[in-house]
Order: sequence, then structure tokens, then C-alpha cells
Amino acid sequence: MENPVSPEVRVFPDLEALSKAAAREVRRVVEETVAEAGRCAIALAGGSTPRRLYQRLATDHSAMIPWPKVHLFWGDERCVRPDHAASNVRLARETLIDHLEIPDANVHVPAVETRSPEDVASRYEAELRAHFDRPGDTQHGWPVFDLILLGVGADGHTASLFPDSAALDAGDRWVVATQAPPDAEVRDRITLTMPALNQARNVFVMTAGDEKRPVVREILETPETGVLRYPAAQVHPKGRLVWWVDRATIGLEGDAS
Ligand code: 6PG
Repeated sequence: MENPVSPEVRVFPDLEALSKAAAREVRRVVEETVAEAGRCAIALAGGSTPRRLYQRLATDHSAMIPWPKVHLFWGDERCVRPDHAASNVRLARETLIDHLEIPDANVHVPAVETRSPEDVASRYEAELRAHFDRPGDTQHGWPVFDLILLGVGADGHTASLFPDSAALDAGDRWVVATQAPPDAEVRDRITLTMPALNQARNVFVMTAGDEKRPVVREILETPETGVLRYPAAQVHPKGRLVWWVDRATIGLEGDAS
């Protein structure tokens, strides 16, 4: 990898302040993208960190966002029923989607029910390819998401791209089936691949709490070693990369911007 450009890092006192600022910036990206291109494709993050961001998007900003022009995808999903407590789709529905006037056709849910993870992944890739079919929707064979939201695991994973996983070398696939480590609550996953993440116009990586401090500090302060160990360090989109962190994550005095 050529020497990656340092990301924009925004530090906040806590997750609440981070979520409020990130929601404002998501709204700005959506408004700008829709004004320029007529629609906006967002890949949502899973896990617990984005909960308050989604709730703020659904309350503070919902009326100003042209939801019928927004298409929602998932960066990854656990292969569980959509009503399962560990489902990333369930998190987004409960905190955001169920509170929006957004057409069902704009909410691109991985069909995880009873199919094999491999089948879910190939069907989801087909759904993405059907959406990213206009001129400029792909670059070098990869989808160009307007915004991808990501979290970081304590092991440095992002989406469901885990360290030393075969998913990190997935050829020309946009979506692959993979497994989380044995201690994960749900092992069978599907995930966007790294090249698919890295074609995005905007990537927001959000993380809070001191659990991930060692990983995040290495990624941000010594990327040359971080990139060898952590998939989250390999996220260097063609577009804009912003890390949204709280003080607990990197132990620095942060601004409240
Ligand atoms: C997933 C997520 C994953 C998540 C990190 C952080 O499906 O598990 O996509 O990449 O973002 O594990 O999770 P928390 O936000 O719960 O710390």
C-alpha cells in the first residue's frame, strides 16, 4: 500500500458529543450528495457505537434529510434473523429506519434468513451490483458508496473484516461470507470487502471508550505498523476518511467541535 494519507481525526469528550457532531456531518454529506447526484448510498455500521448517531439522525435531522433519495445498505451483518438481538439490521431499524419516511425499496437488507452465509453474500453482492449500475456508480470495478459508517473492534477489525482473515484477500468480490473469531457472539457473517470500502467517497470510523485505545492509537499514531496488524488500519478510501473518537479512546484532550 502506498503511504496512506493521514486521516482527519475528530476528538470529542464522550460518545454523546461524538454522535451529535457525526449526525450533523452525515446530514451535510447526504444533502450535498443528493444535490449533486440525485441520490445517496450509505452503508451502515453494526455494533453498539452507532446507536446514538442513528437515534440523532432519526430525531434531530430527519425532517431535513431527503430520505426517499437515500439508499441504506449494511457494511456487514451477522447471519442471524433480522429480529435477533445481535442483528445489525435490527439495531438500525429500531434506532433509525422505523422512524423514517423511507421507501422499503431503499432499505437494502441482506437476506440472512435460512440461506448459507455464502449464498447470503452472493445475493447481497447481486443487490449491490443492481443498485450501483449508473455511470460513475463504480470505479475500477468497485462500488462507490457516498458514505460508509464503520466501527472498530478491540482486535482491530472493522465491518466483519477480522485480522488474518481470508476475507481480506477476496479477489474481485464486493461481499463475502466470513467468520468472526470463536469468542464472538455470532460467528457467521457477511461483509463488504476492503476494496469495496476503500472506493467510498466518505468513510466515517467511529469509536469510543478505552477498550480500543491500544488499537486505535497504533492505527492513528503508527499506521506503518497498524496496517500490518489491523484491518481497520487498511481503511484508506479514495475519498475522505474521518475518525470520530472520544477522549477515552485516545486519552488526549479533545475539542468539542
Ligand atoms: C459488527 C460491526 C463491527 C463493529 C465493531 C465495534 O457487526 O460487529 O460491524 O465491525 O463496528 O465490532 O462494535 P461496538 O460498536 O459494539 O464496539
